Amino acid sequence: MENVFVSQHPLIKHKLAKLRDKDTEPKKFRELIREIAGLLTYEATLDLELSPFEVTTPLEKMSGSILKEKIGLVPILRAGLGMVEGVWELMPSSEVWHIGIYRDEKTLKPVEYYNKLPIEPRVSVCLILDPMLATGGSATATIDVLKRWGVKRIKFVGIIGAPEGIKAVHDEHPDVPVFLADVDRQLNEHGYILPGLGDAGDRQFGTG
Ligand code: PRP
Ligand code: URA
Repeated sequence: MENVFVSQHPLIKHKLAKLRDKDTEPKKFRELIREIAGLLTYEATLDLELSPFEVTTPLEKMSGSILKEKIGLVPILRAGLGMVEGVWELMPSSEVWHIGIYRDEKTLKPVEYYNKLPIEPRVSVCLILDPMLATGGSATATIDVLKRWGVKRIKFVGIIGAPEGIKAVHDEHPDVPVFLADVDRQLNEHGYILPGLGDAGDRQFGTG
C-alpha cells in the first residue's frame, strides 16, 4: 500500500521478536519499545528538510546542514509515552505534545480525554507515536486533531499494525505516511492484534 513503510532492518526484527515474547518483563519491554522507536524514526525522518549551516572545525570553516523544520512528537497516551525517549535522543529539541485517547472496550471507538494543544501550532512536522495500530481509530482521531490544529506534515510511527487499522488510516488520511516494524495477521473479536504482543500499555506499565 502506498505511503505504508514496513521496516526490513535486521535490528528491528531482532528487537521486535523479543518485544513480542510473553516472558519479557516490563523493564526490558520498555527498553525495547524505546530502542525500536529510535530505529524506526531514523527511517521515518529521511525526508526532513535541511538549512545550510556554516561550521568551524578546529582546522577550517565548512558548510554543513542543520534541521530546518520544527518537529513535534505526539505520543498517544498511554502506550505512546514509552516511544518518546527513543525519538528524543535523536531529536532533542523536538517539542512533545501529549494526546490522551483510549479505546472504549465495547465499541472499540476512540475516546479523547486529554488535549492541551495551544491554539496555534508551534511545529511544522508531527510524528505521532503509538506502538499499536489495531482498528486505526486512535490513530485516525489523532490525525484529525493535528490537522484541525493546522500542522502541515504528519507521520505516524507505530510498531505493530493490523491490516484493518492500516487500511482505515490510509483510507481516511492517504497523505499521512505510516511507518511500522511489522504488519500482523488480523484482529481478534476484542480488537487485539494477532499474533501481536498483547496490551502495549499494560506491558510497559506493569498494569496487566
Ligand atoms: C491502545 C494502543 C492504541 C490503541 C490502538 O491503547 O496504545 O492507542 O489501543 O487501538 P485502535 O487502533 O483500535 O484505536 P488503549 O486504548 O489500550 O489505551 P492505553 O494505552 O491507555 O492502555
Ligand atoms: N492495543 C494494544 O495494546 N494491543 C492490541 O493488540 C490492540 C490494541
